[in-house]
Amino acid sequence: MQVVITESADEVADLSADAIEALLHRKPDAILGVATGSSPVGTYDELGRRVAAGKISLARASAFMLDEYVGLPAGHRESYRSVIQQIFAGKVDIDPDRVHGPDGASADIPSACTAYEQAIVEAGGIDLQLLGVGSDGHIAFNEPSSSLGSRTRIKTLTRQTRLDNSRFFGGDLDAVPTHCLTQGIATILEARRIVLVATGRSKAEAIHHTVEGALSAMWPGSALQLHPDVTVILDTAAGSRLQLVDYYREVWNNKPSWQGW
Ligand code: GLP
Repeated sequence: MQVVITESADEVADLSADAIEALLHRKPDAILGVATGSSPVGTYDELGRRVAAGKISLARASAFMLDEYVGLPAGHRESYRSVIQQIFAGKVDIDPDRVHGPDGASADIPSACTAYEQAIVEAGGIDLQLLGVGSDGHIAFNEPSSSLGSRTRIKTLTRQTRLDNSRFFGGDLDAVPTHCLTQGIATILEARRIVLVATGRSKAEAIHHTVEGALSAMWPGSALQLHPDVTVILDTAAGSRLQLVDYYREVWNNKPSWQGW
């Protein structure tokens, strides 16, 4: 696992955008995995600036979302489909028809989950999955105790996650859905490359368990230790509980330039 500790959220956004830019130059029709939440917003903003400056284009790229609430009417402004349009698709030149997500409004949830897994496979798999992490260590909506072998399925959100996300629902906990569809941990681990971004002290414990903790369903992010190509990009606050900070800095500062992104 490559751990990069930066001085600011802006640097986190820049470096994660660099990884996506490098992929797009190599593979203009890349398949991106896109996360919601506030963590990747700076990355999307930076991608938007690079598109506007003519440095990159997502015109041939596709994107797959990680998760979606169950029970929100189509078009609800807090459905992840709407959120990803606001924070990502609307800022870059991607074709909105090539942005896919699990169908949380389906009358047949199991079939919707199977269809979503199939759609990812048929597209050729995710080239780069951008991830955030919840304060309880969840990735996508795989809450603590999620099977490390899980696939796309319905999950019940923890009270903590609903509390964390109530800020998007005017602070009204009751307005936050209780269920979601989410890519499973095994689904996420099939992405060819994973870039996780986290900022702020509220993520420090989750980052500690993700990077340095024991592999455990209690800290779903720890499953990323099984993946051969993960980069975790942090600010100093999010990295403040890591034990090997000096080593991570040394590795990054001495990274051979030929390794690139
Ligand atoms: C939600 C999303 C996750 C995200 C997490 C953290 O629960 N399903 O994909 O990583 O929130 O969100 P934030 O980045 O806002 O802290």
